[in-house]
Amino acid sequence: MDPNPNATASPTLTVDGEAIPFTPGETVLEVAARAGRVIPTLCHDPRLDPAGACRTCLVEIEGWRRMAPSCATPAAAGMVITTDNERIARHRQSLMALYLADHPEGFVGSELGAPSEVYQLAERYGAPRDWPRLAPVRAGRPLDENPYILFDATKCIACARCTRYCDEVEGVTAITLSGRGSHTTITTVDQVSLLDSTCEMCGGCIDTCPTGAMAEKIPLLTKAKPERELVKVRTTCNYCGVGCQMDLNVDPAGNGGRGQVVKISSPPPGTTTNDGNLCVKGRFAYDFIDHEDRLTTPLVRAADGTLQPASWADAIRRAADGLMGVAAKHGADALAFVSSSRCTMEENYLVQKLSRAVFQTNNIHQCAAT
Ligand code: SF4
Ligand code: SF4
Ligand code: FES
Repeated sequence: MDPNPNATASPTLTVDGEAIPFTPGETVLEVAARAGRVIPTLCHDPRLDPAGACRTCLVEIEGWRRMAPSCATPAAAGMVITTDNERIARHRQSLMALYLADHPEGFVGSELGAPSEVYQLAERYGAPRDWPRLAPVRAGRPLDENPYILFDATKCIACARCTRYCDEVEGVTAITLSGRGSHTTITTVDQVSLLDSTCEMCGGCIDTCPTGAMAEKIPLLTKAKPERELVKVRTTCNYCGVGCQMDLNVDPAGNGGRGQVVKISSPPPGTTTNDGNLCVKGRFAYDFIDHEDRLTTPLVRAADGTLQPASWADAIRRAADGLMGVAAKHGADALAFVSSSRCTMEENYLVQKLSRAVFQTNNIHQCAAT
């Protein structure tokens, strides 16, 4: 007997001969990905509404005359889907060859910043590289003097990930598609600088761009190595209490071999709580890391009142002696500990532990509580 007679079975469709259950609302791409199929995409970003703009993700659906964009096709019960065959392979090769026809030449030369997904897909699917070249005709904004974001129109494939991100995630709509056909480009109102637009410099357009057409200026100006030669180190942003996860892109040879952070990027969408998003400070304000004004050693006050370099052990001992001296003379409640929402949860936990367990006082506060 059915243990739950009210339960309704999930609808199913078939992917490459395998029956896959799905939840209504899922797209063919999502169902196929869950089934372990790798369908190439360019205009797809899981944070954005489907656009079906780039035609990279086409699949065959039984009974449909034309191939369908899997990213924008809702799954339906009984669909019979093929994600790879000779016709689909030919389509992928031709499409990538067309994209490359007016793209900057050369895998390495075109990848000054983030890796180009167009080149990666062209390699993966064996796109012909001997098709006649076309002169790129998209107009850029070369005079935009904003300090962070470069738009290289020659690499743009008009997938609209940047404009949709700006609109749907950031809610700012600072950039938009304009023009027609091969002249379609990314622009601002009246071609003003991003500084004079509603742009919040979140850098999300850089992060989502699959080609490097939207790129960060700082690593380009400092001639940093391309991203694929850098080492990513996951960390927590400490500009505010949200705790966004970010990746430090480190050049191991920088700073005389100590390593140098040359760029910040966000982890892929869906993998961390910030879902691939960062703000202007988190993404771009990292030049403090090697700033000459930063303290590199603890300082303790000498008898004459001046601050003198000390070892960590000496500095911690001085602080501990001072705190224990106050507690011994005036009681533990003469002490108070104030932590910060800019610290991580773990750091805040340790400060309250220090207060309550070590110094035996509940005088512990954190600025987020006010
Ligand atoms: S930086 Fe952010 S706000 Fe500015 S154009 Fe890019 S996505 Fe829009
Ligand atoms: S700049 Fe990048 S994300 Fe924007 S349309 Fe061009 S290729 Fe797509
Ligand atoms: S990824 Fe589906 S059409 Fe672009």
